[in-house]
This record gives sequence, structure tokens and C-alpha cells, in this order.
Amino acid sequence: MFVNRRVELKVLHSAYESLMRGEKVNVAVIGPRRIGKTELLLKFKGEAQGVVPYLNLQRIGNLESFIFAYTRELLYEIARALEMKVERSGLLTWDDLLILSAKLDVDKEVKAIKDGSLETLFEVQESILEKTGQKAVFILDEFQEVLNFKGFLEIMRALTEKQKNIAYFISGSAVRMMEGILAPKNPFFGQFRRVYLKGLPKEDAIELAKITLERAGVEVTQSALELIYKLTQGHPFYVLAVCRRLIEEGFEKIRRRDVHYAFLTELLTEKGDIYMHLEYVFNESLSRAYKGPVHKQILLILAQEEGLRLSEIARRLNKPTGEVSNYLKFLLRTDLVVRQNERYYFADKLMRFWLAKTYLGITELELRREKFLEELIKELEEKYLRVKKELGLAKEAVVREKMREIFGIDFKPYRRGDVEFDGVAFGDKVYVLEVKWRSRPATYRDVEEFVRKVRGEFGSAEMFFFSKSGFTEKAKELCEKEGIRMLKPEDLGTR
Ligand SMILES: Nc1ncnc2c1ncn2[C@@H]1O[C@H](COP(=O)(O)OP(=O)(O)OP(=O)(O)O)[C@@H](O)[C@H]1O
Ligand SMILES: [Mg+2]
Repeated sequence: MFVNRRVELKVLHSAYESLMRGEKVNVAVIGPRRIGKTELLLKFKGEAQGVVPYLNLQRIGNLESFIFAYTRELLYEIARALEMKVERSGLLTWDDLLILSAKLDVDKEVKAIKDGSLETLFEVQESILEKTGQKAVFILDEFQEVLNFKGFLEIMRALTEKQKNIAYFISGSAVRMMEGILAPKNPFFGQFRRVYLKGLPKEDAIELAKITLERAGVEVTQSALELIYKLTQGHPFYVLAVCRRLIEEGFEKIRRRDVHYAFLTELLTEKGDIYMHLEYVFNESLSRAYKGPVHKQILLILAQEEGLRLSEIARRLNKPTGEVSNYLKFLLRTDLVVRQNERYYFADKLMRFWLAKTYLGITELELRREKFLEELIKELEEKYLRVKKELGLAKEAVVREKMREIFGIDFKPYRRGDVEFDGVAFGDKVYVLEVKWRSRPATYRDVEEFVRKVRGEFGSAEMFFFSKSGFTEKAKELCEKEGIRMLKPEDLGTR
């Protein structure tokens, strides 16, 4: 079953409608592993009428097989849109594609692709669509895999940018890599609307759990459902894992205690799906940047205590800050760790808890002990799920939300390499937002620093500076000089 994702589906549908009207919009769906990217894209595909080929690049080994698979999906979808009888399983070789293309009267084009290169594919697809009178949204899942093909982005951009009949929805779980692909200086900068996928909203997560449990004949209270949401943070894969565990345990009526037990079993014992998932993500992420045991050591330090500064981490490791700074740069590239205001945090709070606890080797038997279970849950809720950073992030989110309501600018958090902004929006120009949520006014230096960062990253941009406690006189002058829009809580109605 599929729950909601209304907002995201709407973005996809309206991009599709734009293409039909002749103004194409590309979309990038970005989010961590198993958060529901593929599910969302396939749901859209199921709802959309017309030519919507889907390709998962994870399974594509080399450029030749990419060209074949791409052509195959495109032709198959066109044939279906034209209500021709065609089976996907009957399209296994270039000869099969040539036969189908003859029926579509595009055999010359398909032959050219077969004997040609990636350039030929992108060039010729437009005339295939033209001739068959179709427009297509091509979904490319796990798009970051194209980085394995040298020059792919440049070629794709150069040839498809001006094509009227095709738009792309791309998706990827390596958040940093996807942002890199879409960053300034790279060919795709400014060409994609971004949709960041997070956990499900509360009511959707609860609906998913409720229906899953009730279908299996398991009764559940509202308070147990809310607990499932709270512990899983709405991550659909976690919700389903907890429900499956509850069903397998054979409970008839689920109480809060059962949820605690099922959740911790999933998270902390080797038979758990969440455990397996986190272990996979952890190893995969580290393999991208792994440089030795020190990286793991740093992660273990942060698992115990988050929000440390470089100097504090260096002190704990008894190593020079210069060296530790390099380790941290590697870790930032893994998606495991994020930096905010010079401090380092885990990107995923459950990953942090998992790491801190699995090194202790918790066993199933221990989880059956009520007291131990209670202590763990208490620690999880008090230390891991409720951290200070959340407060800061929540405030930034409130400001972005208000900016959307009042100015119609859809700011998203932005991070590329070491550069971070509280909000960036791409439209006719680049919009950048700074949020200072402090009890003293923003200073000249705060504003100066912001301007420097914006210039360095984007050259020119429309700048907004929100400060909870207003601005010093000097800061105001600089804002006026630089044309920065100053905002205070009363401007946004957020006091
Ligand atoms: N909106 C939803 N409603 C119900 N279940 C969902 C929803 N979104 C995701 N799921 C479930 O969560 C799991 C993960 O979803 P999916 O495979 O789409 O994630 P993904 O982001 O594509 O993951 P990956 O990064 O591994 O490719 C699946 O079991 C899916 O059924
Ligand atoms: Mg997927």
C-alpha cells in the first residue's frame, strides 16, 4: 500500500503538466536510503497517462547497456501510449527493438542509436518523440551512478537542455553526491527543481502502521501508533519493520511496551531489518571515504556526545587539529555526519543510537528484561531523539515556511562541501537566506561573513537576513549598502 506524499506527488504532476504545455521542468528527488523515493516515482508513473519510462541505474553496468535499456524503455512506453500490443519481455535484443521501431516508423532513428554513441541517443530521442507525436518524462532512479560514465553529465546537458519533448525526473540516495551533481559549476546547475524526501508526516506514518497491522488482524491503540511514529520518525521502512516484528511476535493487542520491545529488537539485534539497514548504510557510506580506524573512532566519539567542535574532537583523539580536520572532511562527504555552526552531528539520530549501542553487543535476551528495555528507551528519547540541534533546525524550518507563505520563495537548506546556507532557492535568480536565532542582535561581522559566503558560492544573489533579535546599527548600514533584505520576527509573524 502507498500512503500519501501529497505534496511531492503534486510537484511531479505539475512538472509533467508543464512539459505538456511546452515549458519543461526537470525534478530531482533527493533523500536518504529507503525513505520512499522509488515508491514515490513509481506511484507518479502509475498515475500519469502517457510516456513515462523508468530506469534504475543501479543495475546498469556499462554505457552500452545503458543506451540499450534507455532506448528499450522509451520505445516500450511510446508503443503503450499508442495502444499497440507490446510485451516488455519480448524486447530483449536490438533486433527486437528494431522490429518494434519499424512499426512506430522510427527504425532509421533506432538504427542510428544502435550504431552510435551516447550523443546519438540523446540527439535522436527528440525526433523519435516528434515523429510519434509524444512527450516523455524519463525517470532515472539512482542517478548518481552516471558519475561512473565519464563526460555523461556534460553530454546529457548539452543535448537535452533545449529539447522540448522530454523532461527528466532523477533520484538518488547519496545526498551529497546528488547535491554535487546539481551544484554551481556543474552542468546541471539550475536545471532541476529539487524535492527533498523526509520521513512521512505523522498522520501518514500512523495510517501506514495502522493499516499494516489491522490487515494482519492485529489490534492497536492510538497511543501505541503514536509511539511507533515517534520512535521511527516516520521513516516508512522503519515503520514497516516495526509492524512486521509486532505481527510476527503474535501479539493480539498491541500495547506501548510491545512497541518498545519490537522497535529495539529491530534496531539493536542482528535479526532486525532496521539493524541490517543501518549496518549496510554505515558500511557503504564509510567505504566511500574510509581512511582507517580513526574515522570509526571519531564516529564513536560523536555517538557518545554530539555537537563537538573540531578542537574538542582533536583533544579527545589526542591528535593535531590539522590532521583531525582532514578526517572530518572525509566524514562530511559520507552523509553520516553534518556540520552546523562549527559543530559536528550525526545526520541520522537513530544511526547514532544504533552505533553507540551495537558496540555494546546487546542481546535479545536482555531486551526481554523489562527494566533494561525501559532504561534504553528512556535514554533514546532523552539523549538521542531530543537534541539541541533540533531546536535550531526547527527554527530555521519555521522561518523557511514563513518565507514560503509570505514571499512565495521555496527555500531549502543548502550544503555543498564545506559551504552551508540556511536556505537557498533557485528561480529566475538565486535567493539565499540566513537565519540567526540568537538573543543578541546580528552584527556587522555576521552580515559581512554572509555576503562573503554568498559571493563565493553564487557570485550574485538576492539575499535575505533573518535575525531574531534585530540588527546593530553597523549591521543595518551594511545590509542597506549590500541590498540585503533585513527580517525580524514581527515581519514574519513568528514571535
Ligand atoms: N508513501 C509510502 N507509503 C507506504 N510505504 C512506503 C511509502 N514510501 C516508502 N514505503 C515503503 O518503504 C520502503 C522503502 O521505499 P523505497 O524503496 O521506495 O525507498 P528508496 O528511497 O527508493 O530506497 P533506496 O534508497 O534503497 O532506493 C519500501 O518497503 C516501501 O514499500
Ligand atoms: Mg530506490
